[in-house]
Amino acid sequence: MAAKAQKLNPDGYVHARDVAEYRRLRDQALMWQSATEAVLDRVGLKSGMSCLDVGSGPGAVMRLMADRVGPTGRVTGIEIDGALGAQALADLRAKGGAAFEVVEADALKLDQVPGAPFDLTYCRLFLMHMQEPVAALERMLFWTKPGGTVVAQEFDFGAIAVEPLCPAMAEFNRLFEGVFRGHGRNLRAGRQLPAQFEAAGLGLPDGTLAEAKFLPLKDMAQMLIGVYQGLFDAATGLGIADATKAEQFKTDMEEAGSDGRYYCLTPILIGAWKRVA
Ligand SMILES: C[S@@+](CC[C@H](N)C(=O)[O-])C[C@H]1O[C@@H](n2cnc3c(N)ncnc32)[C@H](O)[C@@H]1O
Repeated sequence: MAAKAQKLNPDGYVHARDVAEYRRLRDQALMWQSATEAVLDRVGLKSGMSCLDVGSGPGAVMRLMADRVGPTGRVTGIEIDGALGAQALADLRAKGGAAFEVVEADALKLDQVPGAPFDLTYCRLFLMHMQEPVAALERMLFWTKPGGTVVAQEFDFGAIAVEPLCPAMAEFNRLFEGVFRGHGRNLRAGRQLPAQFEAAGLGLPDGTLAEAKFLPLKDMAQMLIGVYQGLFDAATGLGIADATKAEQFKTDMEEAGSDGRYYCLTPILIGAWKRVA
């Protein structure tokens, strides 16, 4: 068991924390930008408002918030990874557009957030990493003004697939599901949002929006390789990773990506929102 614990980030986050993973998070943010913009617009985020992004990572959603709240608005992030949060804050402030802050903290242990309560409290691809997502939503509710809105956008991995079937995708699923299940993470976070909103005292969502993509595998192969490599250490800790298999996976996925016949159905990004009474 001791060897297992060593392989995980101290806060239990299953993905790597390195330059390659930070780049992957930025690429992923670009991929889902329009889905997030659609939700921010649906909930009426506008000039002068204040918002909070929980698990803000590279700050891509904070930029989309700033585009809407403008120079009189405030955009705050909470990020447990201090280096990632500091870089995001520097990038955001360099471009400007709103008043930015990033709080370096474990959101589940934070009581007071400077600037709370907010008009909008938001998270993306965050609850799926939480062993207690309802506790995280309860905090988000606590940090939101009466009349403000709580929003979450989370992946649902129920449909992810490559067609025609290919061995590289089977290996991806083996490792990915092994790490997520092995560390008590949630592969169905998206579809569980309504029940989790209700359990957190928010009530059922006012609205939901789901988006998936169906893309040539050549456009997804590097992302899938990046996810696999970023989970490798956590998988090693669980005894389900193998360097030879990892090399073979990379070769097979690159070959399938350049083959041209394969298409990838991505995870579904499911958004849900609720106005606070
Ligand atoms: C998959 S990334 C998503 C980043 C960003 N929300 C996005 O969609 O681009 C999850 C982020 O949550 C952060 N995180 C994980 N657990 C956290 C916690 N307990 N408190 C604050 N941040 C956390 C991670 O460090 C990482 O940056």
